Amino acid sequence: MQIRRTDCLIIGSGIAGLMMAEILSQYREVTIITKSSWHDSNSFLAQGGIASVSTEDDHWTEHFLDTVKAGEYHNLAEMVRLLVTTAPEMVNKLKEIGVPFDRNKDGSFMLAQEGGHSRRRIFHAGGDATGKEIVSCLYERVRRHVTVIEYETAIELISKNGFCYGTWTVNSVGERTVYLASHTILSTGGLGQLYSFTSNHPNATGDGIALAYRAGAKLSDLEFIQFHPTLLIKDGKCLGLVSEAVRGEGARLVTDSGQFLMDGIHPMKDLAPRHIVANAIYNAISQGERVYLDISAIPLFEKRFPTISHICKVNGVSLSGGLLPVAPGSHFLMGGVVTDSVGRTNIKRLYAIGEVANTTVHGANRLASNSLLEAIVFAKCAAKSILNEGFLTTPIFEQAFNVSFCALPKVDEIRAVMDRYVGIVRHYEGLSYAVNWFETYLRKEEANQSFSLDDVTRRNMTMVGWLVAKSALLRTESRGGHNRSDYPNKSDKWCKKRIIHQHSSNGA
Ligand code: SIN
Repeated sequence: MQIRRTDCLIIGSGIAGLMMAEILSQYREVTIITKSSWHDSNSFLAQGGIASVSTEDDHWTEHFLDTVKAGEYHNLAEMVRLLVTTAPEMVNKLKEIGVPFDRNKDGSFMLAQEGGHSRRRIFHAGGDATGKEIVSCLYERVRRHVTVIEYETAIELISKNGFCYGTWTVNSVGERTVYLASHTILSTGGLGQLYSFTSNHPNATGDGIALAYRAGAKLSDLEFIQFHPTLLIKDGKCLGLVSEAVRGEGARLVTDSGQFLMDGIHPMKDLAPRHIVANAIYNAISQGERVYLDISAIPLFEKRFPTISHICKVNGVSLSGGLLPVAPGSHFLMGGVVTDSVGRTNIKRLYAIGEVANTTVHGANRLASNSLLEAIVFAKCAAKSILNEGFLTTPIFEQAFNVSFCALPKVDEIRAVMDRYVGIVRHYEGLSYAVNWFETYLRKEEANQSFSLDDVTRRNMTMVGWLVAKSALLRTESRGGHNRSDYPNKSDKWCKKRIIHQHSSNGA
């Protein structure tokens, strides 16, 4: 097995990891490892944009209030304040490094509106290709100073006595490498691929959550999963995301019986917080209706939304009819690896940033366009903390590669259980079934696994599916991205109460 040393090891190449690399590489040697190519991430696919106060009629307190309202008050106020007050500085940084945010004819920034926002405050680029523009810009800068290793997957973190020293990886031809680092940063994204309808990139299989858990890191709020209301569908298949910015420009949800779906459901109608819109669509579809996004009121749709127009065209969905068939699908994990305000986990030298982390800024449901923002704000805070900690030598120690595998269900089986029992609407019987189903696999240890990408991924998905189902079973209320038909209301006793998981044998 090869051994490599680096100062800072970043696992994942989305916007959080790249922003971290951008800052750290000015002072330290940085290595990024990524499961496939540098641009294979949820960040790259992000359409809507990045939220930040920038106009005179707006104020950080408004952004703060919109964030905690969407989060159903499960957010920690001091973290939300840090997020929204740091936003203008970080958006300026993106402008400085050359991200071409869209502008109006007079040169001012073209700001979009999305669900839950009381103002137009969303910066976007390339129309609806914001993630692609930001990630490409950051990558172009960091690739000159940073070692980027593609098609290499972390199998297990190297952790001992509450410290993390790096990771073991496997590449696409099955070769294993040990990376030893002063600091290890998880920026592996979310878990949308645990469901069959998702806006997420195929790489979003919860890997960082599983790695952190097995190393003894604390996890929380895993039951809060955001289902995006409008994924484009055709013939029962999900084709991609239709950004909420489309509703921000005036599109409306209609049923095939001709009703405006959101009328009478929420005062913000089509721009209500996401979980409310997703639940309304889910209920309509469950009653046999089809739901469409009526885009006929948007002038020059193809110019404003080129990515969505392309997805429609290549899949034979007509734009000229003005009706896009939509259904909700998994989009974002609010919970994750517990971190403090600078991205530190409870394991020393292990940081987590971006979707894999639970900074508590999103509460029970994330406000639109706060995810890219969270990624860059906490990347900056974490980079500062790592630089303050200084270089920590990694002890030369031998740690046997003794990774154990459980029995592995097929990926489609995992998705079927998650869709059916741990999806948009959950209840005690279904969740209990899902927990037991995962446990039958987790209890069976299987020797001689191949360490193929497929096996490593299924092992992670099994672990993470179980953790999400267990969390959802324990929270006996409905709040934000956690909806229990047997406990349909919010309960005061659960407010700001977090369900924490920590692996007992490895606890830090
Ligand atoms: C969207 O464009 O609707 C997604 C953006 C986000 O999740 O914040």
